[in-house]
Amino acid sequence: MSLTIEKLAEELKNWKGCDLAKNSNPVLGEGNPKSKVVFIGEAPGQKEDEQGRPFVGPAGKFLDELLDSIGFKREDVYITNIVKYRPPGNRDPLPEEKVACLPWVKMELAIIKPKVIATLGKHSLNEFFPKLSISKVHGEPQKINDDLALFPIYHPAAALHNGGLRGALFEDFRKLGEFLLK
Ligand code: URA
Repeated sequence: MSLTIEKLAEELKNWKGCDLAKNSNPVLGEGNPKSKVVFIGEAPGQKEDEQGRPFVGPAGKFLDELLDSIGFKREDVYITNIVKYRPPGNRDPLPEEKVACLPWVKMELAIIKPKVIATLGKHSLNEFFPKLSISKVHGEPQKINDDLALFPIYHPAAALHNGGLRGALFEDFRKLGEFLLK
């Protein structure tokens, strides 16, 4: 039997490979397993930890708005995070937490087989391209191989702290929408 997102989510519940699992709940990705695009954020926050679902707090509400601006509902796409557990106080995930959780993202990508990985924020961008700076490359697609591109976008939460980034995020999404039509 082939691996599915549902089975992966069940397996994640029994996984103790990351210290964050001691104090928070597992949050795997969710959405359309046939999506051409996978959005990858950083790590769950408080609401995500409570509900066991990605991007359901304030950043998620803004992500819904951004998706809506290019004609998508969240059920149309697949949304996940690099780190599967909430870091205390929403601090940045530690390098070892990212390394520990990475196999889960890889398994999600192996199941969904997207054409485009849209990274939200620097943590997910730098997992794939450690040397790229989000402020320089956001909105510009990066080739991973002939069948897969990465599309870097600012993290929606960044615009909640810095309203000046709202316009840049809508513009990145507009470009993503165009890129997905190619
Ligand atoms: N920020 C993230 O990066 N991921 C979430 O799921 C929520 C907020």
